[in-house]
Amino acid sequence: MKPVFDIKKWVRPSITALRPYASARDEFMSQGEEMLFLDANENPFQTAVNRYPDPNQSRLKELIAKMRETTKEQVFLGNGSDEILDLLFRAFCEPGKEVVLTMPPTFGMYKVLASLNQVENIEVPLTADFEIDIESVLRALTRNCKMILLCSPNNPTGTSFKSESISKILEAFDGLVVIDEAYIDFSPKPSWLSQLGNYPNLIVTQTLSKAYGQAGIRLGIAYADPRIIEVLHKIKLPYNVNVLTQEWAIKRIAQQEIIKSEIQEILNEKEALYRSLKDIPWIKELIPSDANFMLIRVDDGDRRYKQLIAKGIVVRNRSNQLHCENTLRITVGTPEENRIFNKIVREIR
Ligand SMILES: Cc1ncc(COP(=O)(O)O)c(C=O)c1O
Repeated sequence: MKPVFDIKKWVRPSITALRPYASARDEFMSQGEEMLFLDANENPFQTAVNRYPDPNQSRLKELIAKMRETTKEQVFLGNGSDEILDLLFRAFCEPGKEVVLTMPPTFGMYKVLASLNQVENIEVPLTADFEIDIESVLRALTRNCKMILLCSPNNPTGTSFKSESISKILEAFDGLVVIDEAYIDFSPKPSWLSQLGNYPNLIVTQTLSKAYGQAGIRLGIAYADPRIIEVLHKIKLPYNVNVLTQEWAIKRIAQQEIIKSEIQEILNEKEALYRSLKDIPWIKELIPSDANFMLIRVDDGDRRYKQLIAKGIVVRNRSNQLHCENTLRITVGTPEENRIFNKIVREIR
């Protein structure tokens, strides 16, 4: 039986004690009445962006909650999921004392954020076939481990983890379990959002940067128990999601049919790429991917990477990552970009 989730046990004491900055807007904007705002030293002349943004991002949150069938109280918005991950470290991990656990090869920001926040990062490698080594993860959990970060579909492998392994982690660990679902909209596997009600320590992060095609506006989303969301809200900078981002995201979310068809086109292109790369002699393995990119194993990663660069094609050389010797990560482009890539791949000897 898992102990009752006690948020106070997991938040840094200094954050519990913190009195957050409150703007007058926080208090009055949500009242819905026509008010005369002379509180924030803004320029009164209309430029469309002369006012500070809604610090609670109320309209956008409502839309996102509806879209993902959660409540608004379970949603936190940030300047990309990068900001959200950083806030999680700052809210929950005591520098120099507590640790987080990650499973390489995985998204490089987790390790960077751990260093930045002076939090030790225990790394439990994935197995050679990119699955969670569940026995080793459970053995590595120490008393001062605050957070496990995992990414499914994983970057850079594109693979999703077995749901049994993730369930075992959620059952065994009382601290925060962050499941980064940046690529979930490309995946045939279900999101872990449906499990929020069962696990108050689960945080699912998503982003508008990938399937929604909005990397430039910077909008990341965390879904979690309202007690966790409240802590993130308390420590965020007051205006972390700007007016343009909020407006742009609202418009984009309304374009569900277009988004779905773009996702389908990317998936079709990915399948076509898999088929066409099968007979290239220097490509040794095509790793199946649930994301909008693929990891391929080649005969000599550094050499093939440089050859592609010389022909004007930039992919990601992942050869120095664990279990990824001689691999390149290729993002699926437009049909025209993929045609050029295919042609150049065939020219390389
Ligand atoms: C797994 C994963 N998580 C998070 C991010 C960052 O997303 P965002 O653009 O929302 O900061 C990326 C970006 O590549 C990613 O691959």
